[in-house]
Amino acid sequence: MKKPRGVLIAGNWKMNHGPTETDRFFSQLRTLESSALSSRTRQALVAGDLSGWIIPPSLSLSAANAAKGALPFPLTVAAQNAHWQRSGAFTGEISGPMLTEIGIHAVLVGHSERRRFFGETDETAKKRAESLLDQNFSVIFCVGETRAEREAGRTQEVLKCQIREGIPATATKQLIVAYEPVWAIGTGLSATVEQAEEAHQLIRDLLIEQLGGDAARRTPILYGGSVTPDNAPALLASETIDGALVGGASLKPEGFLALLEAGGKALG
Ligand code: PGA
Repeated sequence: MKKPRGVLIAGNWKMNHGPTETDRFFSQLRTLESSALSSRTRQALVAGDLSGWIIPPSLSLSAANAAKGALPFPLTVAAQNAHWQRSGAFTGEISGPMLTEIGIHAVLVGHSERRRFFGETDETAKKRAESLLDQNFSVIFCVGETRAEREAGRTQEVLKCQIREGIPATATKQLIVAYEPVWAIGTGLSATVEQAEEAHQLIRDLLIEQLGGDAARRTPILYGGSVTPDNAPALLASETIDGALVGGASLKPEGFLALLEAGGKALG
């Protein structure tokens, strides 16, 4: 099989789409899916070789989770962040048990916007990943260098540090890593396939060191940063790229479906 870990397309909505807009997105998705998806892509979604995730703001999680049930294929709804403690005095945070209560079992950890605007560090990202994996969540753990770090030739060093300091050595299941170069996020300037492949290979090697060969080889590595339906086919054709974490291009149902179709085609 061309893609031993399957393909995962995850749409990170960031701070967009409240519950009303979320309902509208899903009802349009239902209307458009039969013309946008080939029967092979739909079958791959049903079989689980292709996975689609929607990652809405916390306030829209319940609406998304309810609406996905009307689709003829499964989708996963994931949270954008969650605290490592199960409850307590942490104003503004949400916890794993709260997500479980509303049927959410997947979460994003350490996104560069959390690191840049909200003080997330490798240490706090690690605490979240450790706790949420322990609570049986699937976790997408984000890493990636800034433009200044890349220009200073520090990409490898930064990725090494983020993985060694951020990913718990016990993360042997339900871990997904997303390589998201910060300079490519929301800029329209995606990494080239070569740049992404080089980083993905390094991440795979670091995961082997950190988690051991079997767990590391099972861990999907997604690319994120200005992925669109236009550049997704070339990125997903690479053996080192197991899927895409997509912001802007996932906000419209047409875009998300086109990305799923690219994912289905990449399965070969
Ligand atoms: P973008 O965002 O696709 O809009 O660049 C990607 C992300 O931040 O996950």
